[in-house]
Amino acid sequence: MKKFVFTLLSLVFITTVGWSQSKRDKVSLNQNWKFALGHAANPDKDFTYGKALSFSKIAFLQESTLLNADQESRLRIPHTQKYDDSTWCDVSLPHDWGMSLGYAKDQFKVKGYRKLGGRSPENSVGWYRKTFSPFLEKGCRYTLEFEGIFRDAQVWMNGIYLGRMESGYVPLVFDVTECLNYGNKEENVISVRVDATHSELWSYEGAGIYRNVWLTKTSPISVPQWGTFVTSEVDLATKDSDVKALVEISNQTGKDCTVLLKNTILDKNKKAIASSETPVVIKSMETAESVSMMKVKNASLWSPKHPEMYILITNVIYEGNVVDTYETSFGIRSIRFDANEGFFLNGERLPIQGVCCHQDHAGVGIAVPDKLNAWRISRLKEMGANAYRASHNPPTESVLNACDTLGMLVMNELRVLSSSDEGLTQMKTIIRRDRNHPSVFIWCLGNEEPAIQGSEKGRMIVQRMKDVLNKIDPTRPSTAAMNGSWGEGFTYSVDVQGSNYMNIGNMDEIHQKFPDLPSIFTEEASTLTTRGVYKTDSSKAFYQAYDREFPGWGCSAQQWMRYVAQRKYIAGAFVWTGFDYGGESAMHYWPGVVSNFGIMDYCGFPKDAFWYYKSCWQNDPVLHILPHWNGLETDSVDVQLYTNMQEVELFLNGKSLGSKRLEKYDIPSWKIKYRPGQLVAKGKRGKEKITTSIKTTEKPSALKIMSETGGIITSGSNDIAVLTVKVVDDNSLVVPTAENRIVFAVRNGRVLGVGNGHPSSQEKDVFKEGEEVVRNAFGGYAQILVAPDNSSKPVVIKVHSEDLRSDSITLKIN
Ligand code: GAL
Repeated sequence: MKKFVFTLLSLVFITTVGWSQSKRDKVSLNQNWKFALGHAANPDKDFTYGKALSFSKIAFLQESTLLNADQESRLRIPHTQKYDDSTWCDVSLPHDWGMSLGYAKDQFKVKGYRKLGGRSPENSVGWYRKTFSPFLEKGCRYTLEFEGIFRDAQVWMNGIYLGRMESGYVPLVFDVTECLNYGNKEENVISVRVDATHSELWSYEGAGIYRNVWLTKTSPISVPQWGTFVTSEVDLATKDSDVKALVEISNQTGKDCTVLLKNTILDKNKKAIASSETPVVIKSMETAESVSMMKVKNASLWSPKHPEMYILITNVIYEGNVVDTYETSFGIRSIRFDANEGFFLNGERLPIQGVCCHQDHAGVGIAVPDKLNAWRISRLKEMGANAYRASHNPPTESVLNACDTLGMLVMNELRVLSSSDEGLTQMKTIIRRDRNHPSVFIWCLGNEEPAIQGSEKGRMIVQRMKDVLNKIDPTRPSTAAMNGSWGEGFTYSVDVQGSNYMNIGNMDEIHQKFPDLPSIFTEEASTLTTRGVYKTDSSKAFYQAYDREFPGWGCSAQQWMRYVAQRKYIAGAFVWTGFDYGGESAMHYWPGVVSNFGIMDYCGFPKDAFWYYKSCWQNDPVLHILPHWNGLETDSVDVQLYTNMQEVELFLNGKSLGSKRLEKYDIPSWKIKYRPGQLVAKGKRGKEKITTSIKTTEKPSALKIMSETGGIITSGSNDIAVLTVKVVDDNSLVVPTAENRIVFAVRNGRVLGVGNGHPSSQEKDVFKEGEEVVRNAFGGYAQILVAPDNSSKPVVIKVHSEDLRSDSITLKIN
């Protein structure tokens, strides 16, 4: 009988939130949220928030049955448990409500001209509620974690106020044990008020609970969130490594206890290769720290080429039972900056070929699902980038996980450079969260602080931050990105001089003056290009794609790469930016709503510059012709090749236009009269030969849809698919000028958003249930992001367009 009851209970929790039976369990709370807009300037339209009791007294009020009218009205505040949210919209996380708002010229450029911010208070506050009924075990401890909310979030559990986080980039973690309703029938309600009025950056930053949400169950004796730190010393000759595992254990039992801490290191095949056992005494209501040393012989070192990961399994054993199991992924590698020779990974010089990236993507804004983040990192890898600067804010965890496993170094950056208590607390949270990621090789304490970067005050603030940082992570250097005042202020405190743009100062002089200070370009280039467009046109916010327009501080890819290649002391550079991003539509302003700085557009479709970087950053043969060959109205077309070949020859319609010998970074070009037909480029490098051609296409005749993320999608998870739609002619060539209107029909799935990479497209990105999903192609391409619904049936995506042959794709369900 007892067994039967247990099975029943298990069933209850499996059908609710899916706990397993181990002591520690982490479940996703991304699904089934309710959402409604409040108001940033009018309490009556903000569910009377700001008028009535906003904090925990509400929780007690709602228990009372004898309420007067005033008290009753307070129950209409959405953070009370009994609030009726049935008329609110259904949303799942990650969510960015900013993407559903239209644009207007009188809105802020920093918000991407979305109707969001101080000029649209009616759109700037959002309320979220989630009701859930897990099987909660009394005696366990529960932690609610929001990976990130943009911004100024206040959180309640069952009407009880938990706290507030103003930053849009720092996780919120609450111990909610005492605020939960236990028992099978009781529901729990999380309420969140988000105020996205203000900005923290000067580009589109979105609005809402845009990162994952988790509920974690642990025993009262457990490793706290981010309570491990695994570091290693590698002997580069033998690769034998001393691994040090620092583990914190918290004791919330109310009495002193002694536990046995068992650490085991697993290799990538899940084979145990080292272990340690240590008894640890933990006083009641305290957290103890234990350090264990383990040896890994002939370790597989982590690098962008070989992203070898290990796992530390920490078992906490109390009175013979495992009461907690905590997993820490880590890598073994050695990093070193040298003032004269740049950056060294595992003893070898590795020039930093980096890109700066904002975190938003077409169609979804900042609500980027984990899979999309991984796909974006893989696009950058394909281009040959080996480093990612999370500019100008700490990245979401899935970016770091992807960088660890795919192999991409990370400059992890704080949004706020500050030595205030709040600033330092935020910094500590981020460092504790991220310090086990082998991809993270440097901390960037801030970006462009002209008011203090050259001052004594600035020097002191950075020094204070560094002192605090070194206590929690002594293994990585730090920098701060300076756009001026190099050699002053910050320079005296940082470990690595971080300089934005070679045109802003004189790096050689700084190097001479500070011969022991390593240097890196935290930003370079800032070239403005639009995919498939070869003529700048401010009425559409278009920039020619030749990589030769940039603001005063910027320069072309070729210029900065030549400059850095001639200076071994510079560790490398981060290009501004890997992808286009919302807002900061550069010099053109309205109607531009998306930046043009990306090497790839907002959807991740490559612009021509992608192949220039690829030709310089990796060794596989690259031979790319630009522009496209579809009727350019000019007598003198500038045809260029982006290539890493040593000799190239160009042909138009079979006739040679001459050959050229090339050095690295050269861009061969020919001025030719446009004639429809075929351009062929032939390249030679030693014995290697390569041919590329582009053709004038016929008119569009069909659509083609393909998945960028494979043909299988996992239901009941946070999985998504990235799908590319191409407009092709009868020869299956993408028509580079096509702007056909594409209609999408999705079965058994949910459309997260659509995009096309057009910098001034003000079409809809997101759609309500039942609405026609539509987007024009731009330069022959469009993108749709889809998640499976709950039906566990294959997801079918059909695309059609007037006068074109339709296409469809079926994604199998895992
Ligand atoms: C930099 C700044 C970036 C971006 C860029 C555009 O100065 O750090 O955030 O604005 O300019 O060129």
